[in-house]
Amino acid sequence: MAYKKLSAEEAAALINNGDIIGFSGFTAAGCPKTITTALGKRAEEAQAKGNPFKIGIYTGASTGDTIDGVLARAHAIQFRTPYQSNNDLRAALNKREAHYFDLHLSELPQYLRYGFLAKPNIAILEASAITDDGKIYLTSAVGIAPTVARLADKIFIELNHYHPEELAGIHDIYEPADPPVRREIPVYAPGDRIGVPYIRVNPEKIAGIVETNLPNEVGAFTPSDEVTNQIGRNVANFLSSEIKAGRIPASFLPVQSGVGNIANAVLGAMGLNEDIPAFRIYTEVIQDSVIALMKEGRITFASGCSLTLSTPALEDVYHHLDFFKQKILLRPQEISNSPEIARRLGLISINTALEADIFGNINSTHITGTKMMNGIGGSGDFCRNAYLSIFTTPSTAKGGKISAIVPMVSHLDHSEHSVKILITEYGVADLRGLSPIQRAETIIENCVAPEYKDLLKKYLQLGQTGHTPQNLVAALSFHNAFNQTGDMRNVDWKTSR
Ligand code: COA
Repeated sequence: MAYKKLSAEEAAALINNGDIIGFSGFTAAGCPKTITTALGKRAEEAQAKGNPFKIGIYTGASTGDTIDGVLARAHAIQFRTPYQSNNDLRAALNKREAHYFDLHLSELPQYLRYGFLAKPNIAILEASAITDDGKIYLTSAVGIAPTVARLADKIFIELNHYHPEELAGIHDIYEPADPPVRREIPVYAPGDRIGVPYIRVNPEKIAGIVETNLPNEVGAFTPSDEVTNQIGRNVANFLSSEIKAGRIPASFLPVQSGVGNIANAVLGAMGLNEDIPAFRIYTEVIQDSVIALMKEGRITFASGCSLTLSTPALEDVYHHLDFFKQKILLRPQEISNSPEIARRLGLISINTALEADIFGNINSTHITGTKMMNGIGGSGDFCRNAYLSIFTTPSTAKGGKISAIVPMVSHLDHSEHSVKILITEYGVADLRGLSPIQRAETIIENCVAPEYKDLLKKYLQLGQTGHTPQNLVAALSFHNAFNQTGDMRNVDWKTSR
């Protein structure tokens, strides 16, 4: 190998206070794992001597604990974008100890190329193989790796032998040209290959290789429960009724499915529903349920940005790469999440809301309006542009003390103009073509938990005149009741009027 071999500590010693690092990976899949651990120690040692040590971080999405957790605990993050889901980093963001720019995931690579954000001077990429002429084969995700590899002055590679070299070929690397000369991205079907299977860089930029042999830090899924299973069945039954009504083609459409346990349960339920034909996925995160359904022939192709799989599921894929490489493509996030492609392919987009309001607005990110949960992720890339955008949520949280459906969302991520369908364990609200009052009545009737129905009906009576009958004094009364008493059911209309 033509490159210098380094230990993680030697690589970290070449990173300084004020550097801006772009990482490979998307979720905990495909992220570097060792240099940042050494960097966290370096930051703590510098700070103990009274010297500042903070860096800026660009990633594909969330990361493993060895990036966001380690660096947040070391107080080493100056700024962070575009998405995270780590407990310690979340705490740091909510204390405003680190600055967080919550961004649509498809936009980060072009934000960097356009100069909207500071250029990363360092890239750290996890690779399964590298050639002497600068071809880098990634591991289980792509994220923003092609763009940060091109923009950075210095690249460190974590060559992770856990991932087989035979993975080469699963990636489809393509970076669009920028306006005014950008053309359409030529993906006309989920399986279309438009790029090359590697990132090509000038070998002189590679500052060193750290060899590792480590699995991804993807956590296991919480087993699905009756609520998530019922949400899954409601989604599947709704989609099969749309096929019967002729509003979804009988051959079906590609599916984008969000992150987390509900998304996993929804895909599982769609796989079980015999009225839904075998289907293709065009999404950002490929989760365990996709692999199971591929083996059963229910999913025929998956285009995504990452294999966010539990270790047993990833090892299953690696042991049967001949089978799965015919059926999976991993793309950069500006392609997997491209609004242009979502609109052209006609995606059925299914994402999870933290909170919805009776008029069809969605909060995906903020707990009671102030505390950041994770970030908008790809939900906006898909929701605004999909053929059919569906949001799912359990009707309540915290044992019923919180209604996920409120008079007015405490933070807005997706507006009533983009959201077409809302689904909870109680049922489906089809919002297409409805006025605000019709939407409110439909959502209360079909989606709200029984103990909150009368409260929301009463709220509507408080509504003043106008097209959207909000009561601006009482609109956040559910949240105020929760903040003051710990339970939204204690809402007091008298003090709100
Ligand atoms: N108010 C306050 N808290 C709420 C709430 C509400 N309305 N609804 C849920 N919560 C709490 C839950 O009780 C839970 O808290 P806990 O961890 O203390 O138990 C937490 O929020 C959510 O739990 P989690 O298990 O993380 O839910 P999830 O895996 O279903 O994820 C989102 C839900 C919304 C956080 C997640 O889907 C997300 O980050 N979405 C935005 C990005 C996105 O949609 N990406 C996909 C695009 S491809």
